[in-house]
Amino acid sequence: MAVRLGDIAPDFTADSTEGQIRFHEYLGNSWGVLFSHPKDFTPVCTTELGEVAKLKPEFDKRNVKVLGLSVDSVDDHRRWRGDIEETQGTALNFPLLADPERKIANLYDMIHPNANDTLTVRSVFVIGPDKKVKLTITYPASTGRNFEEILRVIDSLQLTAQYSVATPVNWKDGQDCIIVPSVSDADAKAKFPKGFRAVKPYLRITPQPNK
Ligand code: BEZ
Repeated sequence: MAVRLGDIAPDFTADSTEGQIRFHEYLGNSWGVLFSHPKDFTPVCTTELGEVAKLKPEFDKRNVKVLGLSVDSVDDHRRWRGDIEETQGTALNFPLLADPERKIANLYDMIHPNANDTLTVRSVFVIGPDKKVKLTITYPASTGRNFEEILRVIDSLQLTAQYSVATPVNWKDGQDCIIVPSVSDADAKAKFPKGFRAVKPYLRITPQPNK
């Protein structure tokens, strides 16, 4: 069954390059990003894992733990890790989960049989501290993901969680935000001391609250 926004992210225990991981316990009070790879020793995945390793300080800053997953064994992952460091110039600095029996892949509906009946697609799940799924993205095997975009979405999700704002099209950190419709004008006056501009009664713009 598909994992949908608002669902509790299914829990699991799995081996990884950093030892056995109990998913929910590992996340603790952090946010999480779980992302799958079709297979070890594949070119696009190699570049993605190098990029996430480079961006790890950005995920740390946001209190996010990242976990990769590939449907191969930990032994394969450990051999591949050397190639990632050699070719991408960064050592893997987060766990890569092994899923040779495809237990997690099935739990998270990461195998789309009409695309490929054994390999996972490129799934991304962003999980909040409440263990609920906040974002899902699915890319085909042939397209590398944009992890700057995933950081951008996490910034937006964290603003919404903390300040009752949404973010408009193509929003970037530091730009104006939108007050969510459930906040009345009276409450907005108290909640947003920098003020807001009502372009329409339903479209109220306010400076990014935490800047
Ligand atoms: C890759 O990671 O490079 C890849 C994996 C499966 C199909 C195509 C590309």
